[in-house]
Amino acid sequence: MYDLARVRADFPILSRQVNGRPLVYLDNGASAQKPRAVIEAMNHAYEMEYANVHRGLHHLSTLATEKYEEVRRIIARFLNVADEREIVFTTGTTEGINMVSYAWAAPRMQAGDEIVLSVLEHHANIVPWHFLRERQGVVLKWVEPEADGGLDAQKVIDAIGPRTKLVAITQMSNVTGARVDVGAIGRAARARGVPVLVDGSQGAVHAPVSVPDLACDFYVITGHKLYGPSGSGAIWIAPERMAEMRPFLGGGDMIREVTRETVTYADPPMKFEAGTPGIVQQIGLGVALEYLMGLGMENVAAHEAALRDYALSRLKGLNWLNLQGTSAGKGAIFSFTLQGPAHAHDISTVLDKKGIAVRAGTHCAMPLLTHLGVTATCRASFGLYNSKAEVDALVEALEFCRELFG
Ligand code: ALA
Repeated sequence: MYDLARVRADFPILSRQVNGRPLVYLDNGASAQKPRAVIEAMNHAYEMEYANVHRGLHHLSTLATEKYEEVRRIIARFLNVADEREIVFTTGTTEGINMVSYAWAAPRMQAGDEIVLSVLEHHANIVPWHFLRERQGVVLKWVEPEADGGLDAQKVIDAIGPRTKLVAITQMSNVTGARVDVGAIGRAARARGVPVLVDGSQGAVHAPVSVPDLACDFYVITGHKLYGPSGSGAIWIAPERMAEMRPFLGGGDMIREVTRETVTYADPPMKFEAGTPGIVQQIGLGVALEYLMGLGMENVAAHEAALRDYALSRLKGLNWLNLQGTSAGKGAIFSFTLQGPAHAHDISTVLDKKGIAVRAGTHCAMPLLTHLGVTATCRASFGLYNSKAEVDALVEALEFCRELFG
């Protein structure tokens, strides 16, 4: 039984007011709030257990290293990965995908080689591939969404050709919540010998993930959307791909030996983790993932599915609201515009006056917005602590906007 009141009580910020109204936080797609357990664990790490990791022999360094390395095991468990050495810590999805672009893709792609990606992608899963297009003539092959905003996995599979070197695909759109059958894409690509990168930034937040079932080669997550700290995250890399990868950033911790003439590298995952990492951030991420696993990701998914159905039924009743993307099985993320002159920024400003936080703009997904024929949308993105009463508050505030802007 999902005890929403108890869950909400775990998040201190939810009890505050904004503009004299109870906070209704519907900007989880951008960044989620943090449970008390994460905040307290980070305070404790700084107050009692802080030192650099992997470097010292003294008590605090050993303790911090143990806590930090434990998180690698927690992430592996969260992703259902057996060997935590396949997990590389990052600052988030953006670093993870750039790592793949620089350290794996760049050295093995020639002019005319292709990367298959979809119009649903976030800029983090577009721009690193544009770098390869600009610098070495790699071709980006775009797969169009369906009319309902979903992505047909078969169309992605059909886009794989003899020159395809990588498929880079999101598991869930951050704009519409459309879910992609990345497992079907992974299995078909693997049969053709083509590696797949899955952007799990949104997907891992809203449903259980079992990376081995996705038949992919790279899977990226970002901590701040997973109710953990900003600056935390990880990438799972298949051992075969790790063996092919050169280091990404150079510096301390990623080497075996450095002389004036030569350098040799540490074994993975350390080979890909240069410099002092976000020690306390990653410790916070570990607590956030333990929190999610404690709730049960299938319970989180069921709660959010009920919220999605309720929100859809209410929003569909507003015949002056243009809802973008209604594909079956989508997540509880809703992008919309209002008919009439009001810009998305105006709507979000009025909602904010009522204590409701939504994002307005292009959501780091300009190709998708261009495809949808809009310059900006408002986006309400729900998380594990949101309620049906908050859906009602959103609808009431939108009705107010409708009256205000006509
Ligand atoms: N990727 C984040 C969002 O969707 C920032 O808002």
